[in-house]
Amino acid sequence: MKNAPHNGIPQYIREIDPYIPGKPIEEVERELGMRAVKLASNENPLGPSPMGVAAAKKAFSEAHRYPDGGSYYLREALAKRLDVPQENIIIGSGSTDLIHLAASALLGPGESAVTSEGSFPLYYIAIEKMGAKLILVPLREYGFDLNAILRAIEPETKVIYVANPNNPTGTVFNANAFEEFFAQVPEGILVVLDEAYYEYVSMPNYSRSLDVVRAGRNILVLRTFSKVYGLAGLRVGYGIGPTALLHEIDKIRLPFPVSGVAQAAALAALDDAEHVRKSLEANRQGLTQLESGMRALGVKFVPSVANFILVEVGGDGDALAQEMLKLGVIVRPMAWMGFPNAVRVSVGTEEENEKFLRVLSDVRAPAERGTG
Ligand SMILES: Cc1ncc(COP(=O)(O)O)c(C=O)c1O
Repeated sequence: MKNAPHNGIPQYIREIDPYIPGKPIEEVERELGMRAVKLASNENPLGPSPMGVAAAKKAFSEAHRYPDGGSYYLREALAKRLDVPQENIIIGSGSTDLIHLAASALLGPGESAVTSEGSFPLYYIAIEKMGAKLILVPLREYGFDLNAILRAIEPETKVIYVANPNNPTGTVFNANAFEEFFAQVPEGILVVLDEAYYEYVSMPNYSRSLDVVRAGRNILVLRTFSKVYGLAGLRVGYGIGPTALLHEIDKIRLPFPVSGVAQAAALAALDDAEHVRKSLEANRQGLTQLESGMRALGVKFVPSVANFILVEVGGDGDALAQEMLKLGVIVRPMAWMGFPNAVRVSVGTEEENEKFLRVLSDVRAPAERGTG
């Protein structure tokens, strides 16, 4: 039911296009009355880190206490791992928390922020909810056009959001390109460099973002426990950036943003090298399986360095996603992210990928349905 606008809600909030989350698998299975595979939210198909799960179970017995609001031990472990001072690390309720907090700390009406079309919609929402102007630059060959972003900067611009790799295209720019770009960004503008899929990228010369933080520059690098560590449901992400910025962000956030269970799980998952290794290996194989399967079907896709692929279906992507859903495969329709003729598929297990390819083949050639 569409309601009349609620009294007092500013126009700039009413105009926000909402974030559309992937459908929960249980809901789809209930509606269809059959098992489904969910390849819609770039989750880890191998599940959570077993070491993380064990630590989380233990931490439950302390659930009557408020958690450590500063996530001290997790920041300490990350500082050691990343070789940056603990004061340069902030933990968020997912990295999306930090996407929002950067906007909350820096933006207001009369100011602007730049990002790209065809990228993560939460940047748009974070900017618009502050009443700031959202400046969108077109993608170039499915990737961030860093030069166009530089050209779009206005005197009022306070923040730039870039995703590397980009979601939903799975494209990447290298460290040289980023450094060349960053050197031309005026000092007063915060660059939020979202590296949510950092661990998956095997390309040499991918990122030296932490060197930029170590040099004391105006950058906030974002990473997460939601992907390769398999803890999306526990909501833990982190930012690495200037202490003075993190100090201001700390003042405006909720006091206990990450539960004790989530902190314990993330801390243990960080040391779960075996789970990370298996997850990366499964993803490498899954990408190859999906890409060669789609090539065989003559389906166009954007080669990806992450754990998902943008698939150009050559027709109405949302309709195709709906068709696939009916056959028990949940992929993400992409019109709302700016790709009306695409769907995004997350890399699953071998069987899940196989089912995706089978169902994709079926829905593209309905006459042959049931033969494969
Ligand atoms: C580009 C990008 N940034 C951030 C996130 C959010 O991650 P988190 O679960 O840490 O909030 C995602 C998740 O899909 C993403 O694609």
